[in-house]
Formats: sequence, structure tokens, C-alpha cells
Amino acid sequence: MHHFKYKNSRLYCESVSIEKIAKEVGTPLYLYSYKTLISHYRKIKEAFKSLNPIICFSMKSNSNLSVCRALLKAGAGLDIVSGGELFKAKRIGANPKKIVYASVGKTAVEISNALKAGILFFNVESIPELVLIDKLCAHMGKRATIAIRVNPGVKAKTHRYITTGTRNDKFGIDEDTTLRIFNENAKFKYIDIIGIHIHIGSQITQAYPFLKAIRKITPLIRAIRKAGNRIDYLNIGGGLGIIYNNEKPQTASDFARAVTPLLSKLNVKLILEPGRFISGNSGILVTRVLHVKKSLSKSFMIVDAGMNDIMRPSLYGAFHKILPVIRGSSKTEKRKFDVVGPICESGDFLAKDRELAIAREGDFLAVMSAGAYGFSMSSNYNARPRVAEVMVINGKYYIIRKRESCQDLIRGEVIPKVLLR
Ligand code: LLP
Repeated sequence: MHHFKYKNSRLYCESVSIEKIAKEVGTPLYLYSYKTLISHYRKIKEAFKSLNPIICFSMKSNSNLSVCRALLKAGAGLDIVSGGELFKAKRIGANPKKIVYASVGKTAVEISNALKAGILFFNVESIPELVLIDKLCAHMGKRATIAIRVNPGVKAKTHRYITTGTRNDKFGIDEDTTLRIFNENAKFKYIDIIGIHIHIGSQITQAYPFLKAIRKITPLIRAIRKAGNRIDYLNIGGGLGIIYNNEKPQTASDFARAVTPLLSKLNVKLILEPGRFISGNSGILVTRVLHVKKSLSKSFMIVDAGMNDIMRPSLYGAFHKILPVIRGSSKTEKRKFDVVGPICESGDFLAKDRELAIAREGDFLAVMSAGAYGFSMSSNYNARPRVAEVMVINGKYYIIRKRESCQDLIRGEVIPKVLLR
């Protein structure tokens, strides 16, 4: 359920006309519905009520300060993956005791800053990382709490770039090594190993791979405890799939119903790291048709948003619905179009061979389900300023990130004097 709906053939975000926002703010723009965002967070919270987990919103899906702040206010924690995300989390006053930090490669500076901030724990992905954290703790006079990210060797049915739990992926540590690390915790004087983390991939539409992964780590948790070690936390990552087109993903409550019986036996505090499930359908990308062009074999709609603004179609062949902001009548002629951006690459497309109502120059289109991994993966490629972000809250719209200017494009660049002579 989301709050981007037609009223009298005009697309609205909650009660605000998207055409009005597009005209006033300009395009392209990312547009978020606060109501949708919070309702998705609450769906997970409600579904897992009996286990009372910490729900750490995965900032990589959308790290806009207002998006994250809205979720913090609703009670969420944060899943971070970099010093930059830690900086942003601190900027919005996040409770460090609800921050978990995962990444296969954390630098000494990033680790030190997270130690200073006092985060709940690091999800650690290798022995050299443990050694580094221990060394930094000794230097800083701090203790670190950590969870080991286990690679359970489970293949999730999703795009090959976003499956993360198979033995060939760079993520996590195998079960035997994990057990050994727990048993040898004393080797690391400044580290308390207190949890297990798994994350098997993203846009997973069924409960089955999650169940498989939890079943695989259950004997490991028992073995770790049997050897006299403590496990307080189990972090089962994110990965819940959403509807982009005609997927039929499990709902949050289906998912909770499937995994709760396994989890409730484990006597651990549960952590969840959903990103896309919360932010995905809470945002859209609004773009304007620049030209409509026919080649010998195809029709193109050339729009003002490109692969630098939304990378998912080009990178993963991902499907995003494209809707006209003002819908014509049912008689409006349709045709197959490639919807493409202005970037100088053939891979710059938002949709291929998509049947769409014939649009005219200046028409606005909504690229749906773009709230996760949309703006957060955008870039300045082709020296294109990054677009504005807007959020509708209680019937009003707010610019939550200004459109970049050309000055922003050169911020930090320095021309050495020798080149100016
Ligand atoms: N936890 C960890 C450790 C992760 O690596 C991820 C995502 C998440 C949580 C959140 O996963 P989610 O609930 O959003 O599925 N750019 C890709 C998705 C990459 C996901 C990376 N890791 C896309 O646009 O589909």
C-alpha cells in the first residue's frame, strides 16, 4: 500500500498534486510520502511485536536526513555501512545504542569514529577486521561489542548482484571459523563478541531462503553457547522484497509468522535491517518528457532524468512502473517506447519496450517504487547536478534536499597554478 494515487486522472502524493510540485520545484525530483514511509515501518514493527526487535533502517537504501529522521521519530534504529552514514546518523540525533555497523571494509578512521559514538555493535566480516578493532580499542581505551557476520551459504533468488549469502560472495565468515572466533574471544582483549549477523541478499520475495539461513545458523548458535560463550543478539539483516511490477512478495506478517517460531526458541534479542521494504514504495522519481522521437525501428521518450539519477534499470535491468502524472482517457493511443535519459550511453534507460500512452513534450511522468536505492545511488555523471528531494507531510510538501547547482559540481575541485599559466 502506498499513497501515490490518481484522483480525477491526476496523480497525487497523499493529498498533494504531483503536477503542482513538479511545476513549482522543477524536474527531475524525488518525491516521498511520509505516510507511506511510516506505515511500512509500522508494518514490520507490528508483525514482529511478539519478539520486540530493534528495527535498524538500512540507510544505504535512502540516507536523506529527513527520511531517516522521520523513521527515528517513529522509533527506528539505523543500519550503517560507512563513516558518511555515521556522520549523517549523528547529525539527526540517532541513538547510538540503536546503530549497527556492517561493511566488509571498514577503515581505522571509520572504526574509531564509531567507537567514539558508542554504537550498539559492529557486524564484523573477517579476522583482520577483529584484529584492527581490538588494536584501535587498546589505543583509545575503549571496549567494542561485535556480532560476527556469518555467511550461511544460502542462495536467495534475486538478481546476482544483490545475493550476498553464498560461499562465493565476499561477505561474512563461515560457520567453523565463527565458532573458533567465539572460542578464542579471549585473544581479543578489548572485544566482546555478543551476536551473530546474517544478511543473505536483497529483494527476496519468499520466506524460504530466510528460513533456510536461520536453520543453518541455529546449530551454530547452540554450539557457540555449549562451549560456554554468550550470544545476546541475532541480526537477521534486511532483504524483504517489495512490489515493483507483479511480484507477489510475502507481507511483513507472512514473514514474521514464518520466522518467529524458529527465532523465539533461540533466546536472543532480534535485530532487523530492512531498507527497501520501508523506503522503496515510499518514493517516486518525477521526470519530464523532453522529446518524443521515432527511429527506424523504435519509439523513444526522451526524459530529463537519466541513469545518473536512477541507476537500477541500467545496472540490474530493474523494472520500475512508469505512470503519467496526468492520465489521458482510456482512448489515448498507446505505443511501445524506450524511456531514455539524456546521458551519452546506450545503457541510459528507465524502461525498455514499455507500452505507454503517447506523451507530449512537457508531460510529467512518475517512475514508481524509487524510494530505495534511487537517490542514494545517484551520481553527477555527465556533470549533471543531483536532483531535488521533496517530502509530503500532512498535506504540505517540503524540499528536503535542494537541487544541486553548477557550483556544487565543482565544489572541492582545485586547478593547480601550473595549469593556469
Ligand atoms: N543489511 C545489510 C548488511 C545489507 O547489505 C543490506 C543491503 C541491507 C541490510 C538492506 O537490504 P534491503 O532490506 O534494502 O533489501 N542497490 C541494490 C540493493 C543492494 C542491497 C545491498 N545491501 C538495488 O537497488 O536493488
